[in-house]
Amino acid sequence: MPRRAIYPGSFDPLTNGHLSIIHRALRLVDELVVAVVGNPKKAPLFPVDERKALIRGAIEASAPELASRVEIDHFEGLLVDYRAKKGIPTILRGLRAVSDFEYEFQMANMNRKLDAEFDTIFMMTGEDYYFISSQLVREVAALGGDVRGLVPPNVFAALAARFPLLLRHK
Ligand code: PNS
Repeated sequence: MPRRAIYPGSFDPLTNGHLSIIHRALRLVDELVVAVVGNPKKAPLFPVDERKALIRGAIEASAPELASRVEIDHFEGLLVDYRAKKGIPTILRGLRAVSDFEYEFQMANMNRKLDAEFDTIFMMTGEDYYFISSQLVREVAALGGDVRGLVPPNVFAALAARFPLLLRHK
């Protein structure tokens, strides 16, 4: 039986922190489903299909040898229902700092309350990435700040297409 896990998130957009988690997770599992939430709490910057394409493109560019072990999918509704449909009990989440802990702790326990089969494993984000969040990347990019190095090159290009001020950093 291949070891499989689901890595869910908004990925709006994918950051280098997310990408590092994906690379490292593939040392632990045989197959990883990166599951983009189709109904995030806030209106997304990138539509779900573009978020998926950016994830696929970033993996293919950074570690093409891993690409065949990653499925990029999306889901609507509850994560417990999605994971049951996929038949994969293990959920993977990145943990950056103490500030993430409470939210993640609540979600992990709520999900296990809803579905006793559900378990969440956490990977600590690398020290180079603990301050990066998609929300900050969106905010900084929208105001023309240099987010190169925080996101994969294809994500930078997609941000620059939306926020032309970023082109001055090219
Ligand atoms: O990248 P994010 O925005 O921190 O990811 C949050 C996500 C998508 C994992 C979470 O919001 C989620 O699971 N959404 C699906 C709806 C759901 O199941 N909500 C109850 C969570 S206890």
